[in-house]
Order: sequence, then C-alpha cells, then structure tokens
Amino acid sequence: MRKSLFQTSIEGLRRLFFLIPPNPEIAQIEITNRCNFNCLMCQRIPLKVPLKDMDFGLYRQIVDKLEVIEEIILTGWGEPLIHPHLLEMIRYAKQKGQWISLTSNGSLLTKGFAQKIIQAGLDSISFSIDDIKAPKSGALAHPVTTQLNNIENFVKMIKGKSLPEVVIQTTLHKGQEKKIFEVVAWAAKIGADMVNVNRLDMRFNTRLKRPNFEEEKEFVKKLDEVGKKYDIQTEFRPHVAFSGISRQVYRILAPFMALGGRHCLRVYNYVYINLVGEVTPCCALPLWSAGNLLQEDLQTIWQSEKFQQFRQHDFQRKICGKCDVLEVKQK
Ligand SMILES: C[S@@+](CC[C@H](N)C(=O)[O-])C[C@H]1O[C@@H](n2cnc3c(N)ncnc32)[C@H](O)[C@@H]1O
Ligand code: SF4
Ligand code: SF4
Repeated sequence: MRKSLFQTSIEGLRRLFFLIPPNPEIAQIEITNRCNFNCLMCQRIPLKVPLKDMDFGLYRQIVDKLEVIEEIILTGWGEPLIHPHLLEMIRYAKQKGQWISLTSNGSLLTKGFAQKIIQAGLDSISFSIDDIKAPKSGALAHPVTTQLNNIENFVKMIKGKSLPEVVIQTTLHKGQEKKIFEVVAWAAKIGADMVNVNRLDMRFNTRLKRPNFEEEKEFVKKLDEVGKKYDIQTEFRPHVAFSGISRQVYRILAPFMALGGRHCLRVYNYVYINLVGEVTPCCALPLWSAGNLLQEDLQTIWQSEKFQQFRQHDFQRKICGKCDVLEVKQK
C-alpha cells in the first residue's frame, strides 16, 4: 500500500532507530499451503507446514481481529488461487476496508477467474516469474506453463484501471542475472507496474546459490539501468518505499536502517498468521508462534514479552539461524 511522503518520512526515521510501531501494519495470512506446482527451490516442504487450506470460518474470525492492519497479504506456502473460498476471502476483507494483495504463480488465472478476482476488489497481485523461457528439467525455478499468457491477459483486462497493481516478482540466483533482465523487459512489454527482485533463501537446499554482497550491488546497479531502459520501475529490497522522493530517500537510508542492519527488516511492522491462527514473526518461521489470534487480540500479541524477546538481536539469530534474506547486508 502506498503511503504519503509524510507517513514515509516518519516510518523512515522509526526504521532507522528501530522504533517498533504500536501495531503491525502488514498481516500475511497463510490461506493455503497446497500448491499445483512443486518448485525445487521452494521451502514449503522443508518448513514442514501442513499442506492444507485455512477454514473459511476461521479466516473470518482472523480478519475481524485485524482492524489496525493496513495491508493483508493472502498468501501462505502454497498457491492462493487454489483456495476454494479465495473470492469470498477477498470480498470479506475488502468490506472491512482493507488493502488486499497476494502472490501467485499465475498458472491457474484463466480469463474467467481473473475477471472474478478483479470484481472481488483485489488491490495488488504479484506474480512469481523466474524465467520467461521454460527452464530445463531439474531447474531450481518455477516451471513455465500457462502463466505468461495468463498474466499478459490479466494486464490487458485491467488496462485503464488504477488497481489492481501488477508486480512481477523474481528471485536472484547466482549466474542468472541475464534471465532477470529478460523478465524485466517482458514485464515492461506487457505493461506490468513494477518488478521486485528478492534474495534467495538457500538454507534448505545446498544446490541453491546466489551472488555475494559485492556482486549483488553490481546487479542492483544494472537492474536500475535495465529498468530505465525499458521504462519500468524495479526494486531489489522489499519493505522499502516504492515511489517518488521517498523511494530515493529510502535507498540512501537503507544501509543504516534497523540500527545499521543489526535487525532483519521484516520484524519492524509485519506478522504472519498461520493456518490455525497462530501469529508468527515471519513466513519463514510459520510454526514459531507468539500467540493465537483466537485467544488474544493482535496488539497484545505484537507487544507481548515473547514477541519483544524475538526482536532482540541475539535471540532472533538463534531462531532465524543463517537467514539473511531481509537484512540490509548480506552475509
Ligand atoms: C512460496 S511462494 C507462494 C506463492 C505462489 N505459490 C508463488 O509461487 O508465487 C511465494 C514466493 O516465494 C518465492 N520463493 C520460493 N522459494 C524461495 C527461496 N528458496 N528463496 C526465496 N524465495 C523463494 C517464490 O518465488 C514466490 O515468489
Ligand atoms: S508455486 Fe510457489 S508455493 Fe508452489 S512450489 Fe512453487 S514457489 Fe512453492
Ligand atoms: S531473519 Fe529471516 S527468518 Fe528471521 S525474521 Fe528475518 S526473514 Fe524471517
């Protein structure tokens, strides 16, 4: 969700000094861990999450408790478009005035389904595209099936509307920079709003490799150039400002945020709510609960001793292990 310059400036200052807001601003709800793909780089199997859908009644109870939230992301460790109640889920949260987004592999987004999702009021959709050509078998990437056509059709359907915004999300693997630049060119050609490049989490698969910090910096420079060339916004780090002057300021501040990179950017304003209503600090920790939303309210859990303890650097490092995907510096 886009913020005003004033809101972004306040947030920038808070992020610099790691002054946690009184409530989380983003809630990601694990509506399903089932998927129609089985990508080899995906953590859903190693994370040992139950491969199920969230009950719709439980979902409603959860959303009723999210009044202080600014954005709800309807995505767990699976494919959200697979959930039989997805449209009702979007409508229910929209009735409450929430900004709703989700991340999808795009393969199930037929024209008919796309129309229904738009009518339901989705505000933003990210599509995960690692490559615009079908990867070789055994590749550590999403397969390429129907999604490129589906996404192109989707963008045509919303032409002239300001929402939903369409983000192409991709992950940086070592030696695969060229593929990402091809994804950027394709995203610009079809008229997507932006391309967001994520760091790879390599903890669960020794075959996964990503560039080192210096190579990553070089990549970000080239990414900017390619974005400019094709006239599309690109971003490397999530959880920062995405537009206008605030984006430039955030880019300068990024290395100093969270007390100079001491804390992961995620713990500042985000919660992950799993299939049974447990509130966890991160999608990569789906089973580490700070409390259950059916028993307590969100603010109580957010400000609880357990959550506060999690935010302490040494404690968090024990829980998160080698993860550094959302730290401002790479190890
Ligand atoms: C787990 S998926 C769930 C949504 C949907 N199924 C999809 O693929 O877009 C969410 C995001 O996690 C990314 N992802 C999967 N494995 C990853 C890894 N090892 N490191 C970083 N991101 C990863 C995917 O590329 C996708 O953008
Ligand atoms: S499509 Fe998404 S959830 Fe499914 S296996 Fe691939 S990355 Fe994981
Ligand atoms: S360090 Fe990794 S696992 Fe821990 S909160 Fe940040 S992104 Fe999540």
